[in-house]
Amino acid sequence: MDLNRPALPLQNKATKRKALAATAIAAALLLSACGGGAAPQGAEQAAAADPASGANASGAVNICGVKDASGIYKGTAEAFTKANGKVTAKYTEIGATTDEARTQIVQRLEGKSTECDLFVTDVIWTSEFASQGWLLDQTKLVEANKDRLIPSTVETTKYQDKYWGSPFFTNAGLIYYQKDKVAKPESWQQLYAEAAKAPGNGYVYQGKQYEGLTVNFLEMLYSAGGEVLNEQGDVTIDSKETRDVLTFMSDGLKNGSADRAVLTYNEDPARLAYESGDFGYQRNWPHVYRLLNATPLASSFAVAPLPAWEGGKASGVLGGWNLAISAHSTNQAGAVAFIDFATSPDWQKHVAMDYSQAPVNEAAYSDPAVLQKMPFATELLASVKGAKPRPISPVYPQISQAIYKNVYAVLSGTASTEEAVQKMAEEITTAKASF
Ligand code: GLC
Repeated sequence: MDLNRPALPLQNKATKRKALAATAIAAALLLSACGGGAAPQGAEQAAAADPASGANASGAVNICGVKDASGIYKGTAEAFTKANGKVTAKYTEIGATTDEARTQIVQRLEGKSTECDLFVTDVIWTSEFASQGWLLDQTKLVEANKDRLIPSTVETTKYQDKYWGSPFFTNAGLIYYQKDKVAKPESWQQLYAEAAKAPGNGYVYQGKQYEGLTVNFLEMLYSAGGEVLNEQGDVTIDSKETRDVLTFMSDGLKNGSADRAVLTYNEDPARLAYESGDFGYQRNWPHVYRLLNATPLASSFAVAPLPAWEGGKASGVLGGWNLAISAHSTNQAGAVAFIDFATSPDWQKHVAMDYSQAPVNEAAYSDPAVLQKMPFATELLASVKGAKPRPISPVYPQISQAIYKNVYAVLSGTASTEEAVQKMAEEITTAKASF
């Protein structure tokens, strides 16, 4: 199966609306013939989650999602079960990376599986999942919490003026560095130069062909002043900035700033490689802070925001995960109860204190207990607020694939920068035209 195949053959909007209307009529006929059953839903007709339902919930909820590298999903499910008394929650891991988790989730949603009540959804999936009618509308839940949430996290759950998930934790890339070996990174150019100076100074990042490579590339592209689409949505990736960043990354592999093994790394392998002590810098997410603190490197590493492109300003890419209720859940009230718990101001502090993940609740960042466990909380909030979203589109997976495949081709030496830039732009244009 192609990981980035859109969920259904997506037609243009007008045809799609007609198709949805036709499906609705067919479903109505079927309903009158069979006397029951649920009508298929597009985003337009999706059912809404009832905020009041959580209070009287009981039974079990199954939360499904990506590998729980930080322990936050299992930990939250356990804490919720203990605190609630009537609803029990468990977390089921379905996929090692975000791309793999998406494939697994899409299979379940297409098959109308009732296995999972809640999905932990990457911020980049909202438009696709909502446009397919796979999720409950959470507008009322989000509206009730909106005032205390970081605005960019709320935006990640929006599609066609409704909210399709509740923000659980947000994310921004950071640089971990070995204070005794290398300097705090001020620019990407300085980081790469320091990394090449000695064999133990190298830079570790996520360079495998998957979403993480798109993120690593865009972090540099955004800081260099480049973009994928402009404000009007035109494809503007064929630019000098894209060429500069691709050449820079590829030179970094040739001159030893980064080890070629990064071409096989997603987040966890990058973290484990860095834990060997053989490197100077690592790009990863905040959860790595707690894990690194439990290793012999605990006293020698420091954490810094992503650097700027020389002469430009620093900019990150907004990551994060939302809690989305499956349209096929058989315990929607239990799912609402879980969301109430996970997004509560109190649990949001635990998100930072127990898992060193970035809360979506802004007040958590200035809480003294949080600052004690996460001394970089203030910088993290600044990184989150400064991070830019990835392109928002129901065909985002194909747009991202066009980016990471072509970036990878340059890094692995199978395409020139020029070929890759042109292909990237063409493939993104084709992807956009398919919806
Ligand atoms: C992190 C981010 C997510 C991103 C992924 C890429 O999990 O939170 O948004 O897509 O990394 O690997």
